[in-house]
Amino acid sequence: MKILILNGPNLGRLDIRDSSLYGDLSYSQLVELLQAHVAGSGLDLDIRQSDDEAQIIGWLHEAADSKTPVIFNPAAFTHYSYAIGDAAAMLKAPLIEVHLSNPKAREEFRHLSVISSVATGSISGFGPQSYILALEAMKKLMKI
Ligand code: DQA
Repeated sequence: MKILILNGPNLGRLDIRDSSLYGDLSYSQLVELLQAHVAGSGLDLDIRQSDDEAQIIGWLHEAADSKTPVIFNPAAFTHYSYAIGDAAAMLKAPLIEVHLSNPKAREEFRHLSVISSVATGSISGFGPQSYILALEAMKKLMKI
């Protein structure tokens, strides 16, 4: 069973972002943590990151066509990309929105998510653990 984990802009540079908000793992360490979490479970994690809105939309189209479940941290696109929200709305399998930080506890512009309304659920504020919680929730949803 494949799960697509998509990461939006600036998440590839976690090592130089504010660790008090985003935790102290680099992006590649985050990827390793997630791969290690599913090792031996038969789950195939396809983990991608892009700073490019069009590329992310293309990946969401692919996931919609292949009915692949998606765990998605849209990063700043969360708050204003209606195009990504529309692409996410076309997904057929569950979509879990994740954030490392808790956007609701931050600046007001981060309080709006244009993804939440089309997500099965959202997990925020637990640092890298947000992704692990999302994986566990996805396993339950997919009865894995
Ligand atoms: C983020 C929260 C967003 O507001 C921010 O723009 C990010 C990361 C998070 O994971 O906490 O880049 O999605």
